[in-house]
Amino acid sequence: MILEFFEMKEVPFTREIVPTHLFGSATHQEASARLEYATHHRQCCLLTGDPGTGKSTAVRSLIYHSDQVKYRHVYLCDSALTPKLFYHEVLHFFGMQPAYRATEAKRQFQTLMLDIYENEKKIPVITLDEAHHFSDNMLQELRFILNFKEDSMSPMSLILIGQPSLRNQLKSKHLEAIDQRIQLRYQITGLTEKETHAYIRHHLQVAQTPHDIFSEEALRAIYHFTQGVPRKINTLCSQSLLDACVLGNKIVGESHIQRVINEQ
Ligand SMILES: Nc1ncnc2c1ncn2[C@@H]1O[C@H](COP(=O)(O)OP(=O)(O)OP(=O)(O)O)[C@@H](O)[C@H]1O
Ligand SMILES: [Mg+2]
Repeated sequence: MILEFFEMKEVPFTREIVPTHLFGSATHQEASARLEYATHHRQCCLLTGDPGTGKSTAVRSLIYHSDQVKYRHVYLCDSALTPKLFYHEVLHFFGMQPAYRATEAKRQFQTLMLDIYENEKKIPVITLDEAHHFSDNMLQELRFILNFKEDSMSPMSLILIGQPSLRNQLKSKHLEAIDQRIQLRYQITGLTEKETHAYIRHHLQVAQTPHDIFSEEALRAIYHFTQGVPRKINTLCSQSLLDACVLGNKIVGESHIQRVINEQ
């Protein structure tokens, strides 16, 4: 219905946006640059940001664009991850049968990471998303996950993703040893007002819309309400498009944005 009404080829503002069509805001570019640096140098990287700012999307883009000859990516998104589950998931991912005993599974994991790096000449990159939900036990385990050859080297890169509270969590005295092992950290922020306008135009361009749809006042209202958080922008824009379509308006003015906001 929206497609024909606004003469679009694709539905804009969806989460299915392909990595080649992502919007390169300053904050997303910086996040990508740091993730690339961390993986290239086999470092531990902490990427934080409020919900919907684009953390998982940044990792999706990293994996999509990464050189398959050089890297082996594992992405785990499990807020209830335990050390045992971690070792099992990674070993299964690489086609291995984890040992029943935890200490043995840990040894298998270490041997596997070293083998990929030293023999396959590839860098294993393990991303743990939703890490702000991890128990202390899981956070403590990160220390052992990153300990190779008497803690003298790391054959792999570990990317921790979570909400800003994770940074504070890692500042606790009992987690200091893990915090010290994080070599790179970055906090993704919301887009600026100018970027928010450009982000919306970008999505419409990707959808191949032949003309501007949102009025200047509408764009300003969207920024004001969303503070440049991509997921919030997507939701507000999608709902306002539908509202304008139902009311037969080809231009989404501020009134449509307000109507949608008032309904939330
Ligand atoms: N660079 C980008 N270009 C285009 N769209 C983006 C970009 N970054 C994020 N988005 C959009 O914003 C949505 C939310 O991003 P994402 O899921 O990565 O957020 P998040 O920070 O991981 O949130 P959460 O903390 O809730 O997991 C995505 O589904 C995507 O549609
Ligand atoms: Mg996410």
